[in-house]
Amino acid sequence: MQPDPQRYTVTAALPYANGPVHIGHLAGVYLPADIYVRYLRAAGRDVKFICGSDEHGVPITIRAQKEGVTPQQVVDKYHAIIRDSFQDFGVSFDIYSRTSSKTHAEVASGFFRKLYEEGKFVEQVSQQYYDEKADQFLADRYIVGTCPNCGNENAYGDQCERCGSSLSPTELINPHSMLSGNQPVLRETKHWYLPLDQYEPWLREWIVEGHKQDWKTNVYGQCKSWIDQGLHPRAVTRDLDWGVPVPVAGAEGKVLYVWFDAPIGYISATKDLLPDTWETYWKDAGTKLVHFIGKDNIVFHCIIFPTMLKAHGDYILPDNVPANEFLNLEGDKISTSRNWAVWLHEYLQDFPGKADVLRYVLCANAPETKDNDFTWKDFQARNNNELVANLGNFVNRALVLTHKFFGGKVPVSAGFTPEDEEVLRQLSEFPKRVGELIENYRFRDALNELMNLTRLGNKYLADTEPWKLIKTDEARTATVLHVALQLAASLVTLLEPFLPTAASRLGEMLNTEKGTWQQAGRPDALPAGHQIKEAALLFDKIEDATVEAQVQKLLDTKKANELANAKAAPPKDDISFEEFQRLDLRVGTVVAAEKVAKTKKLLKLSVDVGLAEPRTIVSGIAEHFIPEALIGQQVQVLLNLAPREIKGIQSQGMLLMAENADGSLALMQPGHAVVPGSGVA
Ligand code: MF3
Ligand code: ZN
Repeated sequence: MQPDPQRYTVTAALPYANGPVHIGHLAGVYLPADIYVRYLRAAGRDVKFICGSDEHGVPITIRAQKEGVTPQQVVDKYHAIIRDSFQDFGVSFDIYSRTSSKTHAEVASGFFRKLYEEGKFVEQVSQQYYDEKADQFLADRYIVGTCPNCGNENAYGDQCERCGSSLSPTELINPHSMLSGNQPVLRETKHWYLPLDQYEPWLREWIVEGHKQDWKTNVYGQCKSWIDQGLHPRAVTRDLDWGVPVPVAGAEGKVLYVWFDAPIGYISATKDLLPDTWETYWKDAGTKLVHFIGKDNIVFHCIIFPTMLKAHGDYILPDNVPANEFLNLEGDKISTSRNWAVWLHEYLQDFPGKADVLRYVLCANAPETKDNDFTWKDFQARNNNELVANLGNFVNRALVLTHKFFGGKVPVSAGFTPEDEEVLRQLSEFPKRVGELIENYRFRDALNELMNLTRLGNKYLADTEPWKLIKTDEARTATVLHVALQLAASLVTLLEPFLPTAASRLGEMLNTEKGTWQQAGRPDALPAGHQIKEAALLFDKIEDATVEAQVQKLLDTKKANELANAKAAPPKDDISFEEFQRLDLRVGTVVAAEKVAKTKKLLKLSVDVGLAEPRTIVSGIAEHFIPEALIGQQVQVLLNLAPREIKGIQSQGMLLMAENADGSLALMQPGHAVVPGSGVA
């Protein structure tokens, strides 16, 4: 770590513009990055917060194919959704750029060309999979097959998402093309490789010697194990028609590998933001570079991109790469393809004005050192018990009592008791303590400390009881509220990185601006006589029905997935025609239906099957059908199933039903009404 740098370049992983952003992205990357940056700004540091959409790569072209549109249409659509939802969530990027921009094409090609001209790449012809039907090489995710490590049948050419191992296409068992489903053939093709192996001694020194102490254990551990396993040259070009063209002769039809161009996107976005001074933020040794990412990006940001920067030679290297683990949702891995996610843009629609609540819950439960789980119950509990009952309650009591007893003016202190002094002393320690936690990327602990500050405030009010005290000692009441308001004033600044909307609303109510971080914690933030404005609730309770609706939405998703992934049972052994003919299958019409008393599942039906008497059939379908709704319906009956007594009723046949993959039942009915008793053959 550098000693107290004054200039920072902070990046957040460029999200792929192939889908919207979900809570896992927020908790892992964008929220901690935003808290960090807002804190640095309040602390008076010079910081640029850089992000944008990652618009190249196979995930984009595959999505385009699925939706039947062009890759450009895909990225235009999702770039706008992502950009707007980040803004509504309060992520305070200085720029949100995109890698399809002109600047980016220039910067990325220039970067490649410099390395190329200086002979930093290795050129190599190799055999790669080719889809003869689609007439295309199958890079990365265009090829799927069975993972050699875990047996997952849907592993990609670059990675198995089940076991997390990184793969190369030729390692896949039974490879087939995503485009045509065909077995691919091998064809020769030339590519440029970044010789990571040549940088191994340097990487080892830089990471293993240099950052063992200050990088998070999960980050350091992954890097160390990569280096220990031995580094190999890595292709930085691809045979694709979507991306930044490889800017050298003899590379027609080839583009830069998305993981080569995307991190350069941080640089081009900075250039878009600061056309004249961007270099200070990337080339001046006094600048501290910090990458916020999710754990699946560690190798790219800690090994490959730094090697690119080192090979280039002009750039600074990251000082830290605080990667988080993953956030799960209701016990299941978040997944874009399975639609198992809470999408940010949907949350913002369903919970208008409640961005801060989500910020709070995701930070309090951030997967900083291990995977964590988001549940709607926890979301509700944290809102109601922590934001409403702790933070909101403290602030509201201090403000409301000031209005009630002192006309909304900060009352004059009649001299502090030791108890007041102690509260103010504790207050003065918070900014430094919270600041240090943030600078060490411990955002959960930092937020918890802030809640300790409001707990302190609540305890102070509970101990002093100004609402009672006013009857006997107005001067003492004035002092208590004077002190409580100083705490509240500090919160305007200290809360801002975490809950920017609540902080600014609180500032409005207190009729004060947020100050610098260093100023927070002062005992005299609001002078006596200062007029405050009307008090309103910062947070309100979230009702059961609200979170139940969200849980229902997830249950619906689960059901839809089960149906979409349903696999038919394997066929049974053959039977002869004679055996089949022994089944007496008929269409009947239900003439009566009622529940069998004292059972949950059974219905007693009376079915007209064209014979003298209707048949009585007991069927286990009571949880699926309302008896009255069955009357008059035609159904399929197996007439000659041996009669059987069920709950004292003689059942003379069996109702045949279609059983859906989710367990729901459907009647088997003829396409149009037929005479009861019609045979089925
Ligand atoms: N798009 C990548 C992902 O979502 C992250 C790219 S980060 C960058 O996993 F550094 F390459 F930009
Ligand atoms: Zn695997």
